[in-house]
Amino acid sequence: MAPTAAGARLPLSLTVFMAVATTMLLAPAEAGLYGDRDALMALRRGLQDPDGALRSWSPELGNMNPCINWSHVTCDRVANRVTEIVIGFVNLSGPLSPELGKLGQLTKLWISYTNIQGTIPEELGNLENLNSMHLHNNSLSGQIPASLGKLKSLKQLHLQQNRLTGPIPSELDGLSDQTSVNLSSNDLCGPIPTDGPFKNMNSSLADNPRLGGNC
Ligand SMILES: *[C@@H]1O[C@H](CO)[C@@H](O)[C@H](O)[C@H]1NC(C)=O
Ligand SMILES: *[C@@H]1O[C@H](CO)[C@@H](O)[C@H](O)[C@H]1NC(C)=O
Ligand SMILES: *[C@@H]1O[C@H](CO)[C@@H](O)[C@H](O)[C@H]1NC(C)=O
Ligand SMILES: *[C@@H]1O[C@H](CO)[C@@H](O)[C@H](O)[C@H]1NC(C)=O
Ligand SMILES: *[C@@H]1O[C@H](CO)[C@@H](O)[C@H](O)[C@H]1NC(C)=O
Repeated sequence: MAPTAAGARLPLSLTVFMAVATTMLLAPAEAGLYGDRDALMALRRGLQDPDGALRSWSPELGNMNPCINWSHVTCDRVANRVTEIVIGFVNLSGPLSPELGKLGQLTKLWISYTNIQGTIPEELGNLENLNSMHLHNNSLSGQIPASLGKLKSLKQLHLQQNRLTGPIPSELDGLSDQTSVNLSSNDLCGPIPTDGPFKNMNSSLADNPRLGGNC
């Protein structure tokens, strides 16, 4: 009887150990990279890409790791996380996926000189490590999300040459006064914040005819 009882106990404790070890040691790192990949795939799924600029983002072809051979993507190879997206001068249309807000280690989000449309997802305010956001020269519309004021690491916010409307959220005056903000050539209106990046010449607001007036 005793050997049977011991035999029943051992696999159970082994199972528990494996489950705990997997949760504690493996899951966080893997969820990070797989989460990054899923966020990139969500972006790609939402876009029309007739020239195949993002065709290397292809887990369905067996290239599962966004840090290996995915174009326009840079990783921190030690942390094994996506840190930069740099896309420019390609014909992409469609919206930015809110899933981009899950790229927790992203420092650089540059998608410029494309035809992306739709609004700037408020989830981008969750990118707490973001250093520069260049979404200029696209066809983005709607309001600038107030959540971008949470981006304490941000040094550059370049949203010029889009179709953004509405007021500049007062929350943006929470950005560092060293942040370079360019909102020129949009259709913004309403009051201009006076603090943070707006109190010096590091913000560019030209070519917004209704800015300073009523919305
Ligand atoms: C860009 O792609 C769209 C389809 O997604 C197409 O209608 C448009 O003509 C393309 N523009 C250029 C300049 O190739
Ligand atoms: C990455 O690209 C290189 C050069 O094209 C190729 O030799 C290698 O097999 C690719 N690796 C993967 C995992 O696709
Ligand atoms: C940037 O966008 C403006 C219009 O919003 C356009 O006139 C200009 O040619 C664009 N620049 C480039 C380099 O595509
Ligand atoms: C603009 O920002 C730079 C750093 O990016 C800083 O050195 C400079 O003093 C700022 N200019 C003004 C007028 O505050
Ligand atoms: C802001 O963007 C506009 C339009 O692209 C450009 O002409 C201007 O030089 C930029 N401002 C700064 C301070 O870089």
